Amino acid sequence: MIKTKILGHRGAMGSAPENTLPSFRKAIEESADGVEFDVQLSADGLPVVIHDEALDRTTNAEGPVNALTARELRELDAGSFFSSEFNGANLPLLKEVLEVIQDMDIINLELKNGNIRYEGMEEKVIGLTREYGVFDKTIFSSFNHYSIKKIKEIEPAARTGVLYMAGIYRPWEYAKKLGAEAIHPFYAATVPEIVEECHKHDMAVNAFGANDDSVIRQLLMMNVDAIITDYPARAREILDEINN
Ligand code: G3P
Ligand code: MG
Repeated sequence: MIKTKILGHRGAMGSAPENTLPSFRKAIEESADGVEFDVQLSADGLPVVIHDEALDRTTNAEGPVNALTARELRELDAGSFFSSEFNGANLPLLKEVLEVIQDMDIINLELKNGNIRYEGMEEKVIGLTREYGVFDKTIFSSFNHYSIKKIKEIEPAARTGVLYMAGIYRPWEYAKKLGAEAIHPFYAATVPEIVEECHKHDMAVNAFGANDDSVIRQLLMMNVDAIITDYPARAREILDEINN
């Protein structure tokens, strides 16, 4: 019996505009165990949910996310770029997202602070997850491993995941050094030897980029702890096929 958890990437970005409330509702509808999403800070320092550092690709505005206040960002249309069906889906504040997903089993909050050092971001996201009662089921992840370390320093009880694309040598040792509970590797960097060693060393493996059927199947057969997928419903079907 494979018990891999299914996390919807940016909600369910295969079938709804990424990182919007409709996308998170869709992930719930598609019976994902949890969701992954990306957090940045507005000009006035409030956590908002958007992937790119620029507004251009996914909203009706241009320029850096952190040039606008939360109130201004909240008014933007982050749905139309995906399809007219989602006209007017707004760019959500983190607290709006937490309200929608608070009953899910797993929350993977990715701090998008690889290129921009958002002052005080770690304290703010920890604070909001506590306020919404989801701290215990949140995994804080980042490609910025200094930020992972900082999360742990601020709040040793926080669960963290080390995001990476490729080439970390003995990642379970590296992640342990940072105090993390999980590695979050790109699917192509996820191989059976690494999963086995991680499990021997009590390190969870939550792989992202699991979108093609064949990739989803391979990762499930490796018994990873979670997959992060644009298509949670499809991943659920494949998991059920394997288990039945
Ligand atoms: O957290 C997994 C995945 O979302 C990392 O890459 O660029 O989609 O945020 P990205
Ligand atoms: Mg992400």
